[in-house]
Formats: sequence, structure tokens, C-alpha cells
Amino acid sequence: MDTRLTFSFPAEFETEALVVFVSEREPKLAGAAAEVDQALGGAVASLLKSGEFSARASETLLLFKPTGLKAKRLLLVGTGKVPPTVYELRRLAGAAARSLKGKNILSWSVLAPAEIAPEAVIAATITGALAADFEPGRYKSEPDDKRLAEVAVILPPSLKAREKELLRAIQVASAIGEGQNFARELANEPSNRLTPTIMAARAQAMARAAGLECELIDAARARELKMGAFLGVAQGSSEPPVMMVLRYRPRPAANPAAPARVLGLIGKGITFDTGGISIKPADGMEKMKYDMAGGAAVLGAMQAIAALRPPLEVLAVVPATENMPGGRAQKPGDVQIAMSGKSIEVINTDAEGRLVLADALAYARQLGATHLVDVATLTGAVAIALGTVNSGVFANDDAFYAEFERARQTAGEKMWRLPLDDEYFEQIRGTVGDILNTGGRYGGAITAAMFLREFAETVPWVHLDIAGTAWLDDAKPWMAKGPTGAAVPTLVNLALAMAGV
Ligand code: BES
Ligand code: MN
Ligand code: ZN
Repeated sequence: MDTRLTFSFPAEFETEALVVFVSEREPKLAGAAAEVDQALGGAVASLLKSGEFSARASETLLLFKPTGLKAKRLLLVGTGKVPPTVYELRRLAGAAARSLKGKNILSWSVLAPAEIAPEAVIAATITGALAADFEPGRYKSEPDDKRLAEVAVILPPSLKAREKELLRAIQVASAIGEGQNFARELANEPSNRLTPTIMAARAQAMARAAGLECELIDAARARELKMGAFLGVAQGSSEPPVMMVLRYRPRPAANPAAPARVLGLIGKGITFDTGGISIKPADGMEKMKYDMAGGAAVLGAMQAIAALRPPLEVLAVVPATENMPGGRAQKPGDVQIAMSGKSIEVINTDAEGRLVLADALAYARQLGATHLVDVATLTGAVAIALGTVNSGVFANDDAFYAEFERARQTAGEKMWRLPLDDEYFEQIRGTVGDILNTGGRYGGAITAAMFLREFAETVPWVHLDIAGTAWLDDAKPWMAKGPTGAAVPTLVNLALAMAGV
């Protein structure tokens, strides 16, 4: 998908379709939208007055050959009563993209609404269009390979002076959207077509193309590194495990005067989660192919970071394995010694994500990460607490959390912080070892995070539980059903913010 910025009068702009956002508040038509209506001889104003289009959020109306405009079509998109956030505008842009695509209109333009910052409009439009363009049916014998050709954002000529920064906003949004779709391609793959070995090969190919360093830790090396928690999960599977390590190093090296911060991104890469010996029920188990969505999000973010080249070192650690039952599988009650030296009682083999992440967090620290963010489809409990709307966020450091929260806001994703009181630790205090891998029914997302906190130790750390947000069970107007690419926009924005760009 090509992207374009143009500083022109919208009525004069030639395009297959001109997308105009219309507010339900008064005045419903302001700034450039009012100009468009003037060129149309007040047609939109009359339409609004008639009540046939009232600009409710997500309401759309397509007009063919609008007289007075050079555009072939005009698509009105209602934004409702309150000015839309990046989160909402992305959905509106995505819904426009999918409805136009359904009519075979693959090139179109968006008129930036005057009341929203141009950077936010660009971010929302471009990431929304790219997200809307993803189709999950990759193994259909006649795949839907229709893709968007070009999206242009029309800005007022008065912003021409800021063209350079606004082009950077386009570049950032494109990298994020593409990183998100890369993550979604991986998460969408069935486990027979994305084993840990294949996932590592895909990561390696991406790293080569993006100019990232990539190292693959195999089982033998993991044993040398004493990754007992990771290997304990992997021992039940015939597929060899692999821990992917990717590194982005800025060139020239980051500002030597500033204390070197190294962002470590860690992503759960369970390519299939049967539950192991504590096996899951059959109903819905097919969805456990997306239990590597956190790892995929980290890889997608790394691809985008490599494209945007912020002056900050970023490393990624993605532990990948299947979680399978079998004659060699770990069993409830087994004790594993993690890389950090802590002993873990495996109460439930289905709480495997925290085990592989324990060693990945320790390894990221050993490699020099000064700040950690892990992303994982970790618990069903987070979806009980927050549903499919917000990802769960946990943090052991308020200052780093504040930085993360700002990045989340810029990215326009929904996440909700949950607590980590020391009292919760009682639920996972070990009997024969240091720590249990499950803490009972109550506060399941929290006790999982408490477990991970033990392995972040004193390093500022944020944990994202995306079990409820990484997958859409039903198609939405702005996105196909399937993987969502959750967390990629926030991770990329965090890296940019930490780099001070
Ligand atoms: N991968 C699952 C969590 C999950 C559930 C992700 C639903 C996406 C959708 C995780 O490994 C798991 O099985 N967690 C258990 C933990 C329990 C055994 C303490 C859970 O949530 O039931
Ligand atoms: Mn599990
Ligand atoms: Zn899992």
C-alpha cells in the first residue's frame, strides 16, 4: 500500500474516493469539510438537515460522482458527538477502507478533520488502512489477494511548512501497520505450519531483510544456559524449541553522554498450547495456535523499529516451543530450576507461558536490557477481568510505567493497569521450592504477573497480558476476524519515546 501526503484544496483533488469525517456536534461541517460542502453547493448540509445522515459514530454514506468535486466518489463517515481519539479514528478509517475495498475501490483519500492534530489523523488513517487490508484466508484455494493500492491524507496548505515532520508521521504509521500485519501473519499460522523452527526461520528472514542481528538459541545452548523453566515446557514436544534473540543497534551509536538505556522486548512464543499433561478441553483448543501472539507482536515491533532507526538499543527475546502432553512431558508437581536459580513447582502444566518467560526475562537481563516489556497471551483470567477490550498491564516501576502509558496513549491502544501488591505473592509461595506456577482461581492474571515479577527482579518492567485482545472471534467493520496485532503500536511508540524521537 502506497501512502501520500498532499496539501491541497480537497474539492480540487482527483481521487477514486474522498473520505470526509462529519461530526455530530455543531457545526457538523467545519474547516475543510465545510469547503467540500461549499463546492457541492451545500448538498451535505441539506442531507444532514434531512436527517437521512446524522453523522453518528461509524455511520457512512457513499455518493457517486459528486458534482463540484474532482473526486469520483464521496464517502461521508460520521464521528459521533465527541471528537474521536486515535483509537476511534483508526477504526473509522479501517471501516472506510474495508467498505471501499468491498466495492473494489483500492485507492482513496482522507480529508484530515481540522479539530484533530494532523499527526493523530495520519497515524490513525495509515495504521487503520493497513490493519483493514489484512485478510486471514491464506490457505484458501482461491485466496482473497485484493490489496489497497494507495491512501492519501489531505491536509490544509497552511501545514505545508510542517511537511517534513508529517512525512515522518506517515513513515512511523506505515512501519507500525506493516509490523502489525507481520505479527498477524505469524499469529494466524496453524501450528503445523508454524513450528518453533519455522517461526525462528521467519524471524531470521525478517531480521536479515530489516538489518537486525538475529541469534537462535537451540535446546543444547539453552541447557548450557541452564534454562530449566523453558526446557521443562519444551520436553513434552517432538518439535525442538528455540529462543530467538534479535538486536537492533542504532548507528551511529546512541548519544554517548546519556546513560545507555537498552529496551528488552520479550514475547511468549508458544506455537501451540494443548495445556500439556494438565490438558485443555477440546472445545476451542484450535485457537491455541495464537499462543505465540506476544512473540509475534515483539517480532513485528522489531521490524518496525529497524525501519524507523531510533537512537536506542533494543533487544528482543522470544522463547518458542509447543506445550504438549507425552511420555517425556513435565508433570504436575515437577520442580524446574530456572536460569535465574529460582526453583519452580509446576502445579499446572497449562501455566506454561510464565515458565518460558521466566528464562527469557532472565536472559534479556543478562544480555544487558535495562528496561523490560513482556507481551504474552498469558491468562484466560485477564479476559475474565477486562474482556476483549483492554489488554492487562502490570508494572514494577511507576516511572517506567508512566513512560509506557504515554506511549500507549500516542499509539491509541486500550490497556488497563492491574495491581501487584506483595500480598498476592502468598498465593504462589512454594512448598518444596521457591515459587508455584499457579496461584489458584482468584486473581489469576495478577498471580501470573506476580510470578513474572520474580524474574524481572529489580529491572524496571512492564508486563502485557494480551490473551483477551490478540484475537477477534468475529469480523468487525474495520478488521477481519482473527489475529489483531495488539501491542505492536505501543511497543514501537515506546521505543521511539525512549529514544527521544
Ligand atoms: N495460553 C493460555 C492463556 C490463554 C487463554 C490465551 C485463552 C488465550 C486465550 C495459558 O497458557 C493458560 O493456559 N493459562 C491458564 C493458567 C492457569 C492454568 C493458571 C488459564 O488461563 O487457564
Ligand atoms: Mn497454557
Ligand atoms: Zn499458553
